Amino acid sequence: MQLNVAMRSALSLAKKGLGMCYPNPSVGCIILDKYNNLIGLGNTSKTGRPHAEEVALTNLVGNPKGGTAVITLEPCAHKNNNNLSCTELLINAGISHVVIPILDPDKRTHGKGVKLLKKSGIKVSVGSYKDEALDINYGFYSRIKYNRPLVSLKLASSLDGKIAIKTGESKWITGEVARLHGHSLRASHDAILVGINTVVKDNPSLDCRIKGLEKYSPVKVVVDSNLKIPLSSKVLKNLKDHPVIIWTKKNNIKSTKKDKLIRMGVSIIELKQRNKKLVLLEGLNALAKKGFNRILVEGGSNISASLIESNLIDNVYLYRNGIFIGDDGLSSVGKYKLKNLSLAKRFKLKDTRILDGDVLEEWKLIN
Ligand SMILES: NC(=O)c1ccc[n+]([C@@H]2O[C@H](COP(=O)([O-])OP(=O)(O)OC[C@H]3O[C@@H](n4cnc5c(N)ncnc54)[C@H](OP(=O)(O)O)[C@@H]3O)[C@@H](O)[C@H]2O)c1
Repeated sequence: MQLNVAMRSALSLAKKGLGMCYPNPSVGCIILDKYNNLIGLGNTSKTGRPHAEEVALTNLVGNPKGGTAVITLEPCAHKNNNNLSCTELLINAGISHVVIPILDPDKRTHGKGVKLLKKSGIKVSVGSYKDEALDINYGFYSRIKYNRPLVSLKLASSLDGKIAIKTGESKWITGEVARLHGHSLRASHDAILVGINTVVKDNPSLDCRIKGLEKYSPVKVVVDSNLKIPLSSKVLKNLKDHPVIIWTKKNNIKSTKKDKLIRMGVSIIELKQRNKKLVLLEGLNALAKKGFNRILVEGGSNISASLIESNLIDNVYLYRNGIFIGDDGLSSVGKYKLKNLSLAKRFKLKDTRILDGDVLEEWKLIN
């Protein structure tokens, strides 16, 4: 197997695990023997451990001595409860070449893994497929570097950019295939965030309803300054399996509703307000502290506007159907104070595909 093919396979393995192994990054690893035959593969386990390298080295079908390890991130150099680090595992296995696209941003490993490997006489190649690797684990990178997770905005809109008709009805603007695809997005994120009006008007469950992936439904986050959430909301069912976090304003201390929600098992995070709105960055910082790498925002209009205004959206997934709703419908993004076009955040088109009767466009923030 050629090294570039091995790296592309490792990247696919890494992608597969997104949304399933936070707080760890999702890593893929391919082991080749000294003749470049594929003898092992793995990706980060569902709970974050064992790491991809350990999985790959545990299930070998050949001899790794003198072989190559192709990994999508620098192998860890820190021990976990006295277990060997991945760097040590690779050294002990007799690997003679390690190929990685990027260093681990985690201070415990950053550069140390590479140094240790080189010290043991192992050749280390760094840098190929750097953009692809960073793209896959941008959530982890952002959490460590900027203390906030990656934020993806999902919109299901009409041709004229509306997400609901005048009455608030939004079910369903897009077709079944697009909605199913949206569920796969949920599984690949660690948490899903919505504004309180979306919970009140749509009463969504926010689970991933793809057969076999239900258990990877993300944690739900509701932005609700005044704890207006109805206790009968679908998101509050089955809190044991599908936890809910509510962001609310500070000093709601006497709220009996708050006590009730806490008793039900809801986590409450209190945030500062600015102009009577919760400071969303503070909420994202709190989620980063809890280890969340990837957040999917599913509206509504006001939450999306606030996040865009605060420059907190990294990716957009726009599902568009061929209907017009008109100016009396609800815009996908509410009002925000853009003073001139040069200040607008620009996104570039990353991918586009047809999903039956809908189009999905993936946009990425231009940094
Ligand atoms: N087609 C789609 O893809 C889609 C997806 C989702 C929703 N929708 C539609 O969108 C509609 C709801 O959207 P919406 O804009 O009315 O409400 P929303 O964005 O769901 O919720 C907005 C509310 O969140 C609270 N909030 C707290 N801090 C905030 C902040 N910093 N920025 C913004 N909001 C903050 C405010 O209520 P408090 O002050 O009470 O906290 C605010 O009124 C529904 O009709 C739903 O059907 C469509």
